[in-house]
Amino acid sequence: MITARKGHKLLLMLIVVVLLIGCRKKHHLPTTLMHEQYPRKMIKVGFVTVGSESDWRLANTESVVSTFTEEKGFELILIDGQQKYENQIKALRNLIQQQVDYIILSPIIETGWESILQEVKGAGVTVILSGGKVKVSNEDYYIAWVGANYEKEGELIVAWLIDHLKRIKWNSDKINVVEMRGTVGSSEEVGRTKGIGKKLAEYMSINLLDIESANFVQLRAQEVMTKFLRKYPEIDVVITQNDNMAFGAIDAIHAAGKNPGEDILVISIDGVRAALEKIAAGEMNASMESTPLHGPIIEKIIRDMRDGKDIIKNQYTQGIIIDAENVEKRMLQDPY
Ligand code: AHR
Repeated sequence: MITARKGHKLLLMLIVVVLLIGCRKKHHLPTTLMHEQYPRKMIKVGFVTVGSESDWRLANTESVVSTFTEEKGFELILIDGQQKYENQIKALRNLIQQQVDYIILSPIIETGWESILQEVKGAGVTVILSGGKVKVSNEDYYIAWVGANYEKEGELIVAWLIDHLKRIKWNSDKINVVEMRGTVGSSEEVGRTKGIGKKLAEYMSINLLDIESANFVQLRAQEVMTKFLRKYPEIDVVITQNDNMAFGAIDAIHAAGKNPGEDILVISIDGVRAALEKIAAGEMNASMESTPLHGPIIEKIIRDMRDGKDIIKNQYTQGIIIDAENVEKRMLQDPY
């Protein structure tokens, strides 16, 4: 006969046994089965690029593509802005529809983002800026920005020029300079124009003959430099706000029968591999490095966010100036 106390004991034992079986079952589930039942959720990331205007852009896209791989649990959707602001706006709407978790945006210019970024935020998508900044009323529209101090880059490349002229004992009291700007209204152009202009103005001997935009594009830069060379027979230095514009200027200088790097000094910003090769060959004099390798930095931002860590809003990359002195060494280490 089972008394009430015995019945109680039995019931308790039964519960313990059921619980134990339950636990054992969970732990012994084969891993393949676990994956089938609970497939890993991929993190969906959209990347809206500026386009392929320069070697820097290609290296920047490659850095993101090689970072956000399926093996690491990412599904990357790449949309090429083809150098058009309107395309970038459309791309953002498209990514909202595709229900991405994160958007990496390289804004072509700084203005005109207020309402679209508000829409993106409303859709619950987190934005990370790569390269350019945006002028918006609410900085919460994006979680972080990755890029360089563009104004400082401009100042540093001019400081290098002044030191170089001293080193080579420049013997004229006037230095005739032309400058090529990037895409007007982009953060890179705004900052570099400011930094270069500020530093050039410190030197009485510098004569800034002309300044024009070539949109960061090589072919356009070749046209602009050809025009400059016809208009100003006494150019001593060309400063370009990116390497591809320096390459265009070099082509124009050759076509005019002069030696780039000797007759006309060529200095620039980016530090891409092709620029290092031209510095090593003596056709270019210096380039201020501005790393395009944003992929791993952005991946860390996303992982930190998911771990609930604090995110630094403005994440500045660092670079050095490459010239004839350090170019060989840098070419061995240079990753882009
Ligand atoms: O954002 C970086 C700038 O944009 C690079 O200096 C230039 O090459 C570009 O296209």
